[in-house]
Amino acid sequence: MKEAIDKIFKELGELKASSQKEAEEARVRFLGKKGEITALMEEFRTVAPELKREYGQKLNELKKQALAKIEELKEQAQEAAAEVMPKEDLSMPGDPQPLGSRHPVSIVRQQIVEIFRKFGYDVAEGPEIEDDYHVFEALNFPPNHPAREMQDTFFVSTGHLNPLLLRTHTSSVQVRTMETQQLPIRVVCPGRVFRNEAISARAHCIFHQVEGLYIDKDVTFADLKQAILLFAREMFGPETEIRMRPSYFPFTEPSAEVDVSCNICHGKGCNICKGTGWLEIMGCGMVDPNVLKASGIDPAQYSGFAFGMGVERIAMLKWQVNDLRHYFENDMRFLSEFATATEV
Ligand code: DAH
Repeated sequence: MKEAIDKIFKELGELKASSQKEAEEARVRFLGKKGEITALMEEFRTVAPELKREYGQKLNELKKQALAKIEELKEQAQEAAAEVMPKEDLSMPGDPQPLGSRHPVSIVRQQIVEIFRKFGYDVAEGPEIEDDYHVFEALNFPPNHPAREMQDTFFVSTGHLNPLLLRTHTSSVQVRTMETQQLPIRVVCPGRVFRNEAISARAHCIFHQVEGLYIDKDVTFADLKQAILLFAREMFGPETEIRMRPSYFPFTEPSAEVDVSCNICHGKGCNICKGTGWLEIMGCGMVDPNVLKASGIDPAQYSGFAFGMGVERIAMLKWQVNDLRHYFENDMRFLSEFATATEV
C-alpha cells in the first residue's frame, strides 16, 4: 500500500491537463467511485491496526493534494479557454446609427444667406426678446399702428414707455446694425419671429425671416431691383422673372411687394399661383429717411434699401408644401424627405 500511495503522489506532481475535459478525466481516475485513491481508501479498512495511524495520515494528505491539484488544473484550463475565445463576435454587423439631417427651414435659411453672402453681404443677428423701440419706434411705426396692438404682438412686459416684446419681424436687427456698424452697411439678418396668430395652414405664431439692408451713398431703387432679381434667379432658377407691386411699410418709402414668376407653370397659371402666374416672396423698399435719422445716419448723404422675406414661405414655394404646420411638427416622415436636399 505504501508504494501505491507514493506512486500516486508522484503522478499527481506530474499531472497536466490541457482542457477542462482532461482535468475531469483525472478527477475520475483518482477520486471517482472507481478511482485509484477511492480504491486505496477501501483497502485501508484491511490495514493492520498498528499501521492505521501512519497510512491514515498519508491517505488523507494524498486525497487533499489530489483535490487541490485537480481544482488548480480546472482553473488553468478555464483561463486558457477564455484567452483563446474572443469575448465578442467581431464579425457581427454593427448597430446602425441613423444620421440626422438638417431641417428644411434651416436648409432654405442657409441657402438665402449663402446667396447674399456671395453678393458681399455680412450676416447680423439680434435678440428675439426685443423692445418696442427697435421693433416699432425706430422703424417709423406711428404710435397707434395696429401692429403694436396686443392682438398681433406677444408682450413680455407692459406698462412702461418701452415695453419688452417678442420681435414680430427681423427688421429690428436693421436698427441694431445701423446703431453699431460703420457705413456702408450690407447685411442679411436671419432669425425667428413671433406673432399672436391662430395656427393654420397659412399662419403660425412662430416663423423665420431673413431681413436685408444695404446703405451707402447713391443707392437707388434700381440697385434694389437688381439685387432681388439676382437673388430670385439663384433661388428659383435662371429663367425666373420678378415684378414689383407698390405697397406700404412704415420703414420704407417707396415700398413694394415682390412676386416671382411661378416656377411650376411658368406663367401659364396653376393651383400654386392661383392662376396668376406669380408668387409673392417678399416686401421691400427704400429705407425711409426717418429710419435713417433715428439711427443717426444723415439721409442727405446716404440712402439705402431693405427687404424682408419669410423663410417658410420660400420653402413652401420651393418644395410645394402648402401647409405651414408641417415645418413645426417635426414628423420624421416629413423631415426625412429633405435628407438630401442640401444643395444651394
Ligand atoms: N418687416 C416686414 C414684415 O415683417 C417685411 C419687410 C418688408 C421688411 C419690407 C423690409 C421691407 O425690410 O423693406 O412683414
